Amino acid sequence: MKLVNKIPIWFMRQAGRYLPEYMELRSKNSDFLKLCFDPDLASEISLQPIKRFDLDFIILFSDILVIPHALGQEVKFLKNHGPLLKCITSKRDLNYASLNKSLDKISNIFETLKILHAKKRKKNLIGFCGGPFTVLNYMVEGGTSKTHSKIKTFIKDNKNEATDIIKIITEISIEYLKRQIKSGADYIQIFESWAGLLEKEEYIDFIIKPNQQISEEIKEFSKNTKIIHFPRGSRKNYKTFAEEVKCDVMSLDLTYPKELPSILREKGITVQGNLDPQELLKDGERVEEKTKEVLDKFKKNNHIFNLSHGILPKTKISNIEKVIKVVRDYETSK
Ligand code: CP3
Repeated sequence: MKLVNKIPIWFMRQAGRYLPEYMELRSKNSDFLKLCFDPDLASEISLQPIKRFDLDFIILFSDILVIPHALGQEVKFLKNHGPLLKCITSKRDLNYASLNKSLDKISNIFETLKILHAKKRKKNLIGFCGGPFTVLNYMVEGGTSKTHSKIKTFIKDNKNEATDIIKIITEISIEYLKRQIKSGADYIQIFESWAGLLEKEEYIDFIIKPNQQISEEIKEFSKNTKIIHFPRGSRKNYKTFAEEVKCDVMSLDLTYPKELPSILREKGITVQGNLDPQELLKDGERVEEKTKEVLDKFKKNNHIFNLSHGILPKTKISNIEKVIKVVRDYETSK
C-alpha cells in the first residue's frame, strides 16, 4: 500500500479583513489594539478561519506591534491607514523600565492563548512575534514606509544606538515567546518581514544575530516547540539564514534562490509557503493551477502549504476554498 502524506495548510493573516465575520466584529470594536488585548474576542477571531475552513493551524490573533506598545511607545491603528507610531530615534524615547513590567501590559495575550489551547483539539497552535529588525523598522519609521529611508539612515549613522534597541527588542521578544509557549503555543513564528532591506554585514548584525539568539534561547527553553522563521525578501541570504539560524520550518516568499529547497531538505527543515497572495485576487481556474504548481515545486520537501505573504483584504472566500480543496486532494508519496 502506498503511504499517503497529507499536506497541512494555513494562511498568513487568515484571521483578518477578507472574512465577513471578522469585519462584523471589527465594526463594533474600533480600537484594534484593544481587540488584541481582549482574550474572549481575540480567541474568537483566531478560531473564525478554523470554523469556516477547518485549517490545520490556529494562529493567535494579535500583532507584532504589541511589542513597541509594551516598551512604552505610542502605537495606534488608524482606519484605512495601518499602524501609526510615535517615531523614536533613541532608546531614551522609550518608557522601558523592566521586562516584567513591559510584559504585564500585554499579558492578556497569554490568556487568549490559554483559551485557544483549551479549545484547539487536534489543531496546532501558533504564537508569534516580529523579527527584531522588523519591529525596529516600525518603531523608527513610525508606520509602514515606502522608502525606509529613516531606518536605513539610522542603522548607518547610529549603529550603536540601533544595536542597543535591537538588544532590548530581542530580549523582550524571547521572554514574550517563552510565555506564549507556557500558555500553550505549539509553534512560534518570527515574522522578519523587512529582512530584504539589508545586505552583507548589516544582514548579519541585524537579521542573523538576533534571530539566532531567539532560536537558541527558545530551543534551550523548550526543545519540542517548533520554530518557524520568515526572513521575507532575503533572496540569496535565505541560504545564509538557513546555515546560521536553527529553524524547524522556513517560510518562503517569492525571492528564494532555486537551490534552497534541496538545502532545506538535507537539513531536515520543513518548507512553508509560497503561493503569491495576488493570485487569490484572480479567477478560480488560475488559482487551482497556481496552487498545484506550488505543491509540485515542494513535493520532495516536508511542506506546510501557505502563501508568500499575508492574505489581501479583497480576497474572495471562494478562492480560499479552492486552494484548500486542491491541497486536500493532492496526494504525495515520499
Ligand atoms: O495572521 C493572522 O491571522 C494573525 C494575526 C496577525 C495580524 N498581524 C493581525 C492584523 C499577524 C500574524 C500579524 C503580523 C504582522 N503585523 C506583520 C508581519 C507579517 C507581515 O504582514 O509582514 C506586520 C508587518 C504587522 C504590522 C501591521 N499590522 C500592519 C502593517 C498592519 C496594517 C496593514 C495590514 O496589512 O492590515 C497591521 C494591521 C493588522 N494586523 C490587521 C490585522 C487583522 C488589520 C487591522 C484591521 O482590522 O484594520
